[in-house]
Amino acid sequence: MPGTNPSDARSRGPERAETTGLSRRRLLQLGAAGVVVAGAGAGIAGIGLAEDPSRIGPRSALAVAAERARTKSGAVVRRTLRAAPGTADLGGRYASTWLFDGALPGAEVRANVGDHVRIRFENHLPARSTIHWHGLALRNDMDGVPGLTQKSVAPGGTFDYAFTAPHPGTYWFHPHVGVQLDTGLYGALIIEDPTEKAAYDDELVLILDDWTDGVGQTPQEIFGRLGREGMGDMGGMGSMRGMPTAARPLGADGGDVNYPMHLINGRAPTAPTTVKSRPDRRIRLRVVNAGSDTAYRFAIGGHRLTVTHADGFPVEPVEVDTLILGMGERYDVVITAGDGVFPVVAVPESKKDVAALAVLRTASGLAPLTGVRPDELQGRLLRYADLTADDSVRLPAGRPDRELDLDLTMARGGRRWLINGRTYENHEPLDVSPGERVRIRLRNKSMMFHPMHLHGHTFAVGGGTGGGVRKDTVNVPPMGSQMIELRADNPGQWLVHCHNAYHGELGMMTVLSYVR
Ligand code: C2O
Ligand code: CU
Repeated sequence: MPGTNPSDARSRGPERAETTGLSRRRLLQLGAAGVVVAGAGAGIAGIGLAEDPSRIGPRSALAVAAERARTKSGAVVRRTLRAAPGTADLGGRYASTWLFDGALPGAEVRANVGDHVRIRFENHLPARSTIHWHGLALRNDMDGVPGLTQKSVAPGGTFDYAFTAPHPGTYWFHPHVGVQLDTGLYGALIIEDPTEKAAYDDELVLILDDWTDGVGQTPQEIFGRLGREGMGDMGGMGSMRGMPTAARPLGADGGDVNYPMHLINGRAPTAPTTVKSRPDRRIRLRVVNAGSDTAYRFAIGGHRLTVTHADGFPVEPVEVDTLILGMGERYDVVITAGDGVFPVVAVPESKKDVAALAVLRTASGLAPLTGVRPDELQGRLLRYADLTADDSVRLPAGRPDRELDLDLTMARGGRRWLINGRTYENHEPLDVSPGERVRIRLRNKSMMFHPMHLHGHTFAVGGGTGGGVRKDTVNVPPMGSQMIELRADNPGQWLVHCHNAYHGELGMMTVLSYVR
């Protein structure tokens, strides 16, 4: 079996400590059969926090009840996702990396809302791994966080993920171990609403990604360097790292890593994905930032973007020229195709790297050149404040029952990133009780932006009263803050972390912990 020989194993990051009180065999039985441990209020014994009886574990009665209460369609979607080392064709350039089913991006998973999604994960990697279903308010024991919601899957092992698809929208999946996110292991997860009245003719998923594996340093090498040297002489920006401005809302420091390439749907700008359509077709683009250390400014030459969804949830449509996606964020936009050949660009925000490119073609003509910068990039830029949640998904007005502060800081020159002064290893859980309305203030006290992601929930940015846009990932600008509010309606143990893969792994993670 290729790649399972430990001698060629390229480790993708330290496995976080996992203790287990149950034998591995027993855990696999639980995972495979989907058996609920009757009356075992503490959930899976031995998985981190779930051991503490005051905490509501991933398989506790309350977590199970939340899953039971979800509306079911009765249909079942079955898939196997096989993670293995492989070679990605980036467009004439080949990268040895890790892939789902040999493809980059991994083949999309698509289901209708309410479907029972059953995915067998086969781990043929030379490292332990899991799959996380980014953005879904799913059952806690299927969330894919090692040491918190499950034990990670050993090389050669399998895990059966099974959950009800809770809300329609654009989601994605990726591993949640080490910095495996920065390999080719990702794919789109699209949940459709069969009753939705489609205001578009065609649909297209665009996945943006910063790429180094197999063409530059491996993610593990980068992680090792950042952990040893911090940001050191990276980019030589030192004290010039700047505050956000209107033109640069995420500040002047785009990240810790300079990537040799940026990709759209797995292709380098020298051999871009070309989308053929016809003039006047309305195309729904589902744009996903699967990058590990890069925010993208997205635009299409000659087109305005009508934003219809943010992180899967509908908004009152807004027309803009360009928008920024932090790592983990998604936007759905509708365009009306023009007549000609148009560049679809994703420019790394506050980085000097060459932009990612795809091509929209509705007529003959020359393809756009690598590095093209359409004027739309300088046009109206989407802000969170421009977005209002659609009435159907508004967080109702109300007073918070609990307020939590999360201070985001850098430590040791970027060798560690902290939440409330602690790394994940020493984190203090953020306790909430089921049913509470929770307000969280994310306060960035560092000079880098952090795309903060909460598992298992969709929050209202700026609170509910103003109809704040519903999201699961929100950029917190350097020295700035964001207020988010949510209803604690999905009992369990949920990771909260920076979606910069390196920041998260260098400590910037904690847990929203439901307690009794
Ligand atoms: Cu994209 Cu913790 O997740
Ligand atoms: Cu961060």
